[in-house]
Amino acid sequence: MSKFQAPKGVSEYFPERSKYFEFVRETIIDSAKLSGYQLMELPVFEDTELFTRGVGESTDVVSKEMYTFEDRGGRSITLRPEGTAGVMRSVIEHNLDRGQLPVKVWYSGQFFRAERPQAGRYRQFYQVGIEAIGLQDPEIDAEVISVADAAFKRLGISDYHLEITSLGDSLTRERYTKELRAFIATLKLDETTAERAKLNPLRLFDDKRPEIQEAMATAPILMDYLTPESAAHFSRVKECLELFGISYQVNNRMVRGLDYYTGTAFEFVHHKLGAQSGIGGGGRYDGLMAQLGGADLSGIGFGLGVDRILMACEAEEISLPADMTLSLFIVPMDEASKRQAVLCARELRLHGISVDVAYGDRNLKSGMKAADKSGARFALVLGEDEIASGRAQLKNMQTGDSFSVTIRTLHDDLLKVL
Ligand code: HAM
Repeated sequence: MSKFQAPKGVSEYFPERSKYFEFVRETIIDSAKLSGYQLMELPVFEDTELFTRGVGESTDVVSKEMYTFEDRGGRSITLRPEGTAGVMRSVIEHNLDRGQLPVKVWYSGQFFRAERPQAGRYRQFYQVGIEAIGLQDPEIDAEVISVADAAFKRLGISDYHLEITSLGDSLTRERYTKELRAFIATLKLDETTAERAKLNPLRLFDDKRPEIQEAMATAPILMDYLTPESAAHFSRVKECLELFGISYQVNNRMVRGLDYYTGTAFEFVHHKLGAQSGIGGGGRYDGLMAQLGGADLSGIGFGLGVDRILMACEAEEISLPADMTLSLFIVPMDEASKRQAVLCARELRLHGISVDVAYGDRNLKSGMKAADKSGARFALVLGEDEIASGRAQLKNMQTGDSFSVTIRTLHDDLLKVL
């Protein structure tokens, strides 16, 4: 065993699997860019108060799972448990909320929650997120959902479903919470649970204890209290999803783990991941920006769990696209050919072709073995004869076929077959 190990419960990726991770991450990012979202690069730590205020004190994320510490200046700092609060902070700080709307951004990186680690649940995990700020249209809700769905489709994942709900506007929640609190008051609860319910009564739906679940089974449902405006908004979101051919299930008992949600909320659930099946989720957060001191703008976004989506791809046995693998592996036979090989590699790389070389003093057999291991699509052996004639055999590593190419114009031949 090595002297040092990674801290418990962190996800890390190294070759060969890191390539798969990169493919998943880049496909999601690409899907966001295709809809006009632009990069926002955020700090991984923020003032603790941003999360207590933004995410909410009744949540597990804030009350139990934050990595909080005092920095050398005595400030309370927290490793970001999620991305939306940080995006809001940055948008407000840089006055983007007072400029051209909407603000459409994407971000990606590590997030931190001190959860009990298990398969698919980490203390440091990776998300790609998007946020669309300053738009009320139900069509933007459908766009956000569709960016995630398109990413899954382009990855080739199919064994998942989408759950949606509406948490209504502030009037909806005011009316509903009153009813829910009255209902909860009739239950016998321990002190901690009662305290939690006081902060946010909706949290009780999320309680995993069977006795609480049973007690909550007859609780009033928020969906029945939607104002006509909220109900109309939700209908238009559903219509738009139908237009896009995105199927969904309405789950009127969905409780998101963060307190800022209003209106449309959604979760993507994969069927082959066991307990940690949520591969992404999001929703509207219409009061959040104002609550953090910015303009009173609405917003909607999602966070997709790249670690879990990678596991979903593996569970569905999705293979990497060809352009993720090395194009060419050159095997030189002697010192003189090695010089020619590295020059050839440099020139091909300048043409945008990925190339690696069998460094070290290898014979043909071990050189070809290295070519095979590299996963390259083509291999080229360079020896005395090839250099003298200026021609070599380009071998297709998948089919085993070879054909003759001119070394000087190799890039042309390769670009034709790649
Ligand atoms: P969230 O539902 O807390 O939402 O997280 C989004 C996704 O991150 C989850 O569906 C899951 O795939 C992944 N995830 C969360 N915790 C872990 C963990 N411990 N280990 C592995 N994966 C995890 C948010 O974070 C919101 N900020 C999303 C959002 C953006 N809502 C609006 N805009």
